[in-house]
Amino acid sequence: MDHKPLRAVLFDAYGTLFDVYSVGLLAEQLFPGQGARLATLWRDKQIEYTRLVTTSNHGAHYRPFWTLTQNALAYAIKAIAPEARGDGWPAFEERAGRLMNQYRHLSAFPENREVLQALRERGIVTGILSNGDPEMLGISVRSAGLEGLLDHVISVDGIRKYKTAPQAYALGEQATGLPCAQIAFVSSNAWDALAATWYGYRTLWVNRLNLPFEELGTQPHRIGTNLRDVLEML
Ligand code: LAC
Repeated sequence: MDHKPLRAVLFDAYGTLFDVYSVGLLAEQLFPGQGARLATLWRDKQIEYTRLVTTSNHGAHYRPFWTLTQNALAYAIKAIAPEARGDGWPAFEERAGRLMNQYRHLSAFPENREVLQALRERGIVTGILSNGDPEMLGISVRSAGLEGLLDHVISVDGIRKYKTAPQAYALGEQATGLPCAQIAFVSSNAWDALAATWYGYRTLWVNRLNLPFEELGTQPHRIGTNLRDVLEML
């Protein structure tokens, strides 16, 4: 198949560039025996809430990703620890605060720098296209030492609509000035890789967790195990 050359690569942030694994480790320390369940519930509820506020009531209930992540954590804690519900919450606030702080300072996956450097050496525009709000993305980019390697850090917060709204994916074209057919979109979230494919991006799904892809008929253009696979798409 003939494709126009790729001129930009946009990355999802959480789970793709930034490793959320450390959050699971802390969750296990704080909630022994339940860390994995808490981390999964937290992540699933966070994504569910993005869809809820984007699709309901014309966005009237939108809140930034940081707040929504906090809300999702409160839910997840209350789901595994019924004593945290109602008046019991204050006893859990300190643990919730520690988990949120961990989320703020995630480490980057080890191959990130070299991949971003290789892309820039080839003249490829680089960026993040994320649900994260600008402040949390800024802190994550700095604490992972990635500033200077990214041309764009694009947050959906300006339009108050989360992925997978098409307006959220459109931000990548608007920021780079390129058509989506010339932009690779990289995500370790299957739903995100799927929706970006539907939108028109060239997609790489980084299957870090060895999961099946979504069962909705469309496949990403490429499946890899880490970010280095994006170099094969150029
Ligand atoms: C993001 C989440 C979905 O960075 O990982 O957009």
